[in-house]
Amino acid sequence: MALEIDPGDATLGATVRGVDLRQPLDGPTFAKIESAWHDHAVLIFPEQHLSHDQHQDFSRMFGPLELSIRRNRPKSAGQLTNVRADGTIAPPESLQARFLLGNTFWHTDSSYKRVGAKASILAAHVVPDSGGETEWADMRAAYDVLNDHMKAWLEDKVAVHSYEFSHKPYGGMEVLSPDELSHLPPVEHPLIRTHPATGRKNLFVGRHASHILGEDLEESRKLLAELTEAGAQPPRTCRHAWKPGDLVIWDNRCVLHRGHRWPEDQPRTMVRTTVAGDGADKEWLLETA
Ligand code: OGA
Ligand code: MN
Repeated sequence: MALEIDPGDATLGATVRGVDLRQPLDGPTFAKIESAWHDHAVLIFPEQHLSHDQHQDFSRMFGPLELSIRRNRPKSAGQLTNVRADGTIAPPESLQARFLLGNTFWHTDSSYKRVGAKASILAAHVVPDSGGETEWADMRAAYDVLNDHMKAWLEDKVAVHSYEFSHKPYGGMEVLSPDELSHLPPVEHPLIRTHPATGRKNLFVGRHASHILGEDLEESRKLLAELTEAGAQPPRTCRHAWKPGDLVIWDNRCVLHRGHRWPEDQPRTMVRTTVAGDGADKEWLLETA
C-alpha cells in the first residue's frame, strides 16, 4: 500500500489513503504522516474502523493523552454522543444535547486550560443520514491575511480564555461537579502564536476566548468575534461529512473547528482522544491520573 496524501482546495486539510492505522506504524510512515499533518493541519483518514485501543495507540504517537474535564469520571472520557445510557436519544432541551450544541461554535479544544490541547483525534461511530459534519478553519492563513496594522496591534495582546465564559450558556456548569470545575479557572493565551514545528504564526481565538487583557471587555469581545468570523472563511475552511469508521486528526494550536447540527431525532456518536499540549500540567495527563 502506498501512502497517498491528497490536499483539497482549501488552505488546510488533506485526505490520507493507503495506510491501515489498525497496525502499528513504522517510523518512516509515521514521519510522513506527521510532516503532512504539519503542512495541512487536518488529516482525514477515511473508514479506518479503529477499536478504542487502536485509536489510543495511534493518538499516543503524537504525545501523551489529555484527561477529560470530567476528570472524576474517566469512563465517560472521549464520547460525544446524543445517545443516552438507556439507548434513547437525548431531547434538544436535555443537558446532554445542550452541552453538545456548544461544539457548533468555532473553538480550539482545551484552550480554557493553561496549556491547550496539541491534537484532537476524532472517530465517527454512529452518524446521522444528513448533517453532523465537522468543519475546520486555518488560523495560520487567517493571520497571513490580516493587515499589517492589525498584525502589529495584536502581536503582544493576550486573551483570557474561560470554561465558564464559553460553557455556561450550554449547561457547562451543571455538567461538571464543583471539584471538576475548580480545576478550570480562567487562563491567558497570546492572541498570536508561533507554531513550534513549522515556525508559522497564527491567530489563536475561538469560543473560549472571553476578552483581551487590558482592553475594554465588550469592545475586545466584539473584536475577537470579528477576527474569528473573518478568519473562518473560504478558502481557509474545510468540511468533512462523516462515514462510520472515519478518523480525523487536527492541530488545535493553529486551527479552529466546529460541528454542524443534524436532525435531532437521529443518533450521532463520536469518540475523541486528545493529545496534551507541550508542557501541559501533570494534573491534565491521562497516564498519571
Ligand atoms: C470535538 C468537537 C465537533 C463535532 O470533538 O472536539 O468539537 O463535529 N467536535 O462533533
Ligand atoms: Mn471540540
